[in-house]
Amino acid sequence: MVPAHSGTARPRAPPGAGKGAFLPGAARAAAIAAAAAALVESPLLVNVVPFVRLRHLRDSEPVFIKDKRSCLLCGEWTGNKDPGDHTRNCCRSPEFFQTSLWGQLEHSLTQVSGWRPELGEGRRSWKAATGDASMEKRPLEKRKGPSHREVPPVVGLLLGLALMNALLYLCLHRFFISPQRPALDPSRCPYGYFRVGQMKNCSPWLSCEELRTEVRQLKRVGEGAVKRVFLSEWKERKVALSRLTRLEMKDDFLHGLQMLKSLQSRYVVTLLGFCEDDNTILTEYHPLGSLSNLEETLNLSKYQQVNTWQHRLQLAMEYVSIIDYLHHSPLGTRVMCDSSDLPKTLSQYLLTSNFSIVANDLDALPLVNRSSRTFVKCGHRELHGDFVAPEQLWPYGEDRPFQDEFMPSYDEKIDIWKIPDVSSFLLGHVEGSDMVRFHLFDIHKACKNQIPEERPTAREVLDTYQKVLNSLRDTVMSQTREML
Ligand SMILES: Nc1ncnc2c1ncn2[C@@H]1O[C@H](COP(=O)(O)OP(=O)(O)O)[C@@H](O)[C@H]1O
Ligand SMILES: [Mg+2]
Repeated sequence: MVPAHSGTARPRAPPGAGKGAFLPGAARAAAIAAAAAALVESPLLVNVVPFVRLRHLRDSEPVFIKDKRSCLLCGEWTGNKDPGDHTRNCCRSPEFFQTSLWGQLEHSLTQVSGWRPELGEGRRSWKAATGDASMEKRPLEKRKGPSHREVPPVVGLLLGLALMNALLYLCLHRFFISPQRPALDPSRCPYGYFRVGQMKNCSPWLSCEELRTEVRQLKRVGEGAVKRVFLSEWKERKVALSRLTRLEMKDDFLHGLQMLKSLQSRYVVTLLGFCEDDNTILTEYHPLGSLSNLEETLNLSKYQQVNTWQHRLQLAMEYVSIIDYLHHSPLGTRVMCDSSDLPKTLSQYLLTSNFSIVANDLDALPLVNRSSRTFVKCGHRELHGDFVAPEQLWPYGEDRPFQDEFMPSYDEKIDIWKIPDVSSFLLGHVEGSDMVRFHLFDIHKACKNQIPEERPTAREVLDTYQKVLNSLRDTVMSQTREML
């Protein structure tokens, strides 16, 4: 019996939220459009457009582009003021050269080569239209240096190519940083469907009829207060069939089923089907069982290569990721209530064959809603010990007997209090475990703050774990390099 919750595609975020910025679809499209506009404007294209030629110009002199799309970059589009001329032109202001990437690149080129692209026709019509006297009084012929030096087109072409390369390198590299975590997992099935193992397509959740006729119960693999779990077979696949143990627990059973249906994600065991009439739930079978078996599993010789501080810290990160997911679930902030001691907490999570963790027992996931001042109480009985958060203990001393109605409620920060104990179990006692514990000391101390609001969020804990993992990995790698 445990409640769950979920979080946004994080990406979890990610997850680490990712080192680079991820451009969403619209921004990405805009970036592509900007890059395309830059290409339209590139000297390469300018050179192949008829009536374009390179001219030597002074820095202060404006440059004119005939193509309206190019004006998207230069920013100023001048309407045609000459009724006899149907061309329209745009002008690059001096600021353009100072502020835009393209302008700076082009300016650099000008410094090096003394050449800049210009559209002759456009320039003439602009001058005529504006009647810019100063411009008219400064004929090109009278300027210092050559006035109309024509260059071979191949030079312009080469310069254009060089500029395009620089632009692509500078711009596209900045725009298209792939996200660390996809917002949506395309491999997941839509609501009401599942896919396990090597299944190619998503199948609808099995109905009562299918559960009764197609699932063969084999042997019992686990039992808790609410469910008895059997290794079973469905279409030659191993599956887990959970049966309600006692009718009094039906509400918890149905709550767990509702949570399983709504929280299907990579953080939660895959649901294959259910039958409320028969009180059965079919889920993906995980042969390594619950996290309670972790130590004996990792002690098997075939798993020695994963029995390292690195893998164990990864497991702790997976566990905290699940808590983070539950605290930001599609069903709001959910608290993992079925966790009054360490063994019970561990029994609610399963270890997958690829040494990942999924939440399995979601029978006690009450909702916290701060805006409606909804808080939770995990069960109706008095809790003891220091595994549970201090706010879960009866606050009025031994002289006053426990009464559920006077027990204050609390929020999801009870899950944060428990993280250090669960993580410490997951880290175990292999070479390097204590070093990791040492580096996690401060964040774990913060988790154990007596004041719930001052405890970090699961996301903050996860970020710290990630930083510790990165820095320890770097240290180990540099030490290994030194040894070699
Ligand atoms: N899908 C599964 N694959 C393998 N073992 C499972 C699976 N589901 C449950 N179990 C085993 O059964 C135990 C009890 O399941 P659980 O759902 O926690 O029942 P309860 O709600 O009664 O606590 C788990 O701790 C685990 O050992
Ligand atoms: Mg359980």
